[in-house]
Order: sequence, then structure tokens, then C-alpha cells
Amino acid sequence: MDKRYEGGADGAAGSTRAAGGVPATAWARLAAAAADAVFIADAGSGEILDCNAAAERLCGRPRGRIIGRHQGTLHPADEAQRYRAEFGRAARLGHEVSWDSVLVDAAGERIPVEISSAVAEVDGRRLIMGIFRDVRQSDRAAMQRRESERELQEAVAGAPVPVMVHAEDGEVVLLSREWTRLTGYAREDIPTVERWLECAYDGTVLAEAHRRLTELRERAGPDLQGEFSVRTRDGGSRIWKLYAGPLGRLADGRRLLLSMAVDITDHRLAEAQRRAGAERLERSLAATVEAMARAMAKRDPYTAGHQDRVAGLCVAIAGELRLDPEQARGVRMGAGIHDIGKIYVPSEILNRPGRLSEPEMALIRTHCEVGHDIVRHVEFPWPVGDMILQHHERLDGSGYPRGLTGEAICLEARILAVADVVEAMASYRPYRPGLGIDTALSEVERGRERLYDGQVVDVCVTLFRRKGFELPV
Ligand SMILES: [Fe+2]
Repeated sequence: MDKRYEGGADGAAGSTRAAGGVPATAWARLAAAAADAVFIADAGSGEILDCNAAAERLCGRPRGRIIGRHQGTLHPADEAQRYRAEFGRAARLGHEVSWDSVLVDAAGERIPVEISSAVAEVDGRRLIMGIFRDVRQSDRAAMQRRESERELQEAVAGAPVPVMVHAEDGEVVLLSREWTRLTGYAREDIPTVERWLECAYDGTVLAEAHRRLTELRERAGPDLQGEFSVRTRDGGSRIWKLYAGPLGRLADGRRLLLSMAVDITDHRLAEAQRRAGAERLERSLAATVEAMARAMAKRDPYTAGHQDRVAGLCVAIAGELRLDPEQARGVRMGAGIHDIGKIYVPSEILNRPGRLSEPEMALIRTHCEVGHDIVRHVEFPWPVGDMILQHHERLDGSGYPRGLTGEAICLEARILAVADVVEAMASYRPYRPGLGIDTALSEVERGRERLYDGQVVDVCVTLFRRKGFELPV
């Protein structure tokens, strides 16, 4: 600032003190550094006597080309007259006056400004100070706010899911078309969120919705999330997975809340149909398995009985191993027809006492692959084919038909292998008497981890020795 107007003309600290004890020089320096443009003019003539750096930036001119001009010349022609009138009023009144005006800079650009002025007498001269604030920034901010509000409005309106934005006092501010489409309510039907709750819910759900809404508004509760059955205008219902939480504020300061839903009605319906379909398929597969087992029972009652007893033991083992019920059902199905391939082996070979020749043994051994072949085209949701194919495989690779080892043999087949051996040895066979459960259990214990899955063996032994499991006679 020009030295003439520094509080103590020579800058001596303390020579002139402003209110609060800050030296006037400090005021002058602070004004010089202010972000708003500051002009000091002669209140009588309007001649500009000084200005700060912000004023230079605002006018796009150096101080030298501002000082000495009449204050009115900084404004465009159409504004100059009004400005002079306001300036005169401010100078006359002698106290703080504010008004909006337009400034024109050196490049000719019109700059909207807010002016506030003050008049003071300094060394016998009436001076007027004008603080000019460039309002383009705040205009731009307002424009940006309007723009982002418009974008939000469009985003919500066209959202592919139901979206509602409501203010904290309940007024529904925005609603997506998907919301009205799915519920059948028009935008006008839902002026407030309370009205919506009454449309969509009743009884205890309505009370709960009110409670959760109040919590949300007070931010005492967590963001709302949950599945709700929403009543539509035509009396139907939709299942919505709803999320709600805060979403900034409106220009008037009201807080906004956003509710967004995913309509899972169709998904739920499809799921129920799929479940019903799967259950139907399972029933028909079970019937297929039963038919196969019955066919076998007519021809070879011994093998049919063996399969039944093995299946019972398998289910008990699966239960002890805590297999999920679906997997356990598969174990039962596979075990119930695991020897189905023996249908192709002449019964006189199957049931003949005494040693069998090598070719006869080879023929019996085909039952795994033959059985696998029989069920190959049945689309079981369980590894029934693998169980049939692998139930004579052994962990060390000494089994047949493939010589698979370890985990290459599926768990269901490893369970079946143990149950099959135990039942076969313990029970009577047409060609020899039963060897008893102890001999059978000793056999699988001897083969534990080498031939048979260790855990399955342990569970099987525990079932018989400690849990009182018995094979049906
Ligand atoms: Fe077998």
C-alpha cells in the first residue's frame, strides 16, 4: 500500500494503534495481502489513491495504471452510472454499504463482483475503501452444484434398479423409474418415505421399517440392509434386497438418505423351480436305481442283498464322517447298485463254491467296467459311475480295473471299498459260510492306509465295536 496511508506514516511501530492494539501498519499489510481486491479512493472525487495486489489481479492492470483513475472507470459503460450512484451513496452515508456490480478488466472481460465499502476520515481527508470480491468462483461452485444435482437426478431416474433418495424430513426427492415400474406406484403416489412404507408394508414389518428408518436418520443405527417383501400396487409382492444409507446434503442443508434395492423376485422363483426340478430328477434317479436293484434281485438275490447291506453300512460311515446330506445320498445310491455289472456274469460262476479259474476271475472282474457302462448315460448329480468303477481299487494301486492310487480314488469309492469288503467277509456267501465281523474288521485294519482309507477304516471299526452297528441278517 502507498506509504501515505500506512498508519504511522514512517512505519514506526506503535505510533498509531488500531483497536485491539494491532499497529495500523499491520492493518495496511494485511489489506495488501488480502485475497479480495481492496481499493482506497477519495470519497469526494472518486479518484483511486491506492489498491492492493488482489486489485491488480482483478483488473489485470498494474497499480500504476489503476491509481489516479476515477473508481467508476473500472466498470463497463452500462454499469458505470449505477456504480457512480452507489459510490456517491456510500460516500455520503459514511458507513458500510454493500452492493453487487460488474467490473471490466484490461482484457475487456466482465467480472461480477460483490462490493462492500467503508468511509473514514484520515488526516482531514475523507477516504473510501472498497473491498471487491470476485464472485465468479462462488457462481461456478453454484453451477457445479446444480450440474452435479442434475447428474444425480439423471443417474437415479435411469438407474437399472429401484433407487429412492429422500430428505431427512421424509420428502422423497428422487425416485428411479425402475422403482415405479416394479411397484406399479406413480411418483405422485409416494411424496414421502412414510407414505411409501405404508404402501409397501403392514403390521410388524411396517413398525420395524419405521424403527429402522428413525435409527438411520439419527445415525444411531448402522446402514440398513435386509430382504423385504414389498407389496405392489396391484396387490402382488416383490422380494427386494434393500440397502440404505446417508447421501450428503441438499443445498438447503437437509440431509439425504439413499435407498437402493435389488429385486430378487425372479431369482428366487428360478431358484425354487430349480430346487423343485432337482428334487424331481433325484426322485426319478432314485427310482432308476431301485429298478436296477430290483432287476438284479430277481436274477441274483444274493448280490442284491449284499448291495443293500453295503449301502446301509456306507450311509452309517458317511454319517460318522459328517458328509453333507447331499453327498451321503450319493454314497447310498452308488452303493445300492455297485455290483450292477455282475448282471453280465453267469450266476453259476458267481455262486459256485471252490476256486475259480483265471478266465473266470477275469470275467468277474469286468463287473466294475460293465456296471460303469450301464449307468454311464444316467446323469446322476453324484459320482455314482466312479463309485461303481473304482470300488475294487486299492490305495497302493493293487486294485482293479485301473490300478488307481490314493486320492485318485474318489472318497465315495473309498468308503464303498471298506463297506464292501467288511460285508462280503462277514456275511454268508453261496460258496462259503460267513467269516464273522471280527475277521472282516481285522482284514480292513490290516489294510489300513495301505489298501483302505485310514479314516474310513477307523470309523467303520468304531461303528461295529463301540457304537453297536450290526449288519442286517
Ligand atoms: Fe464288487
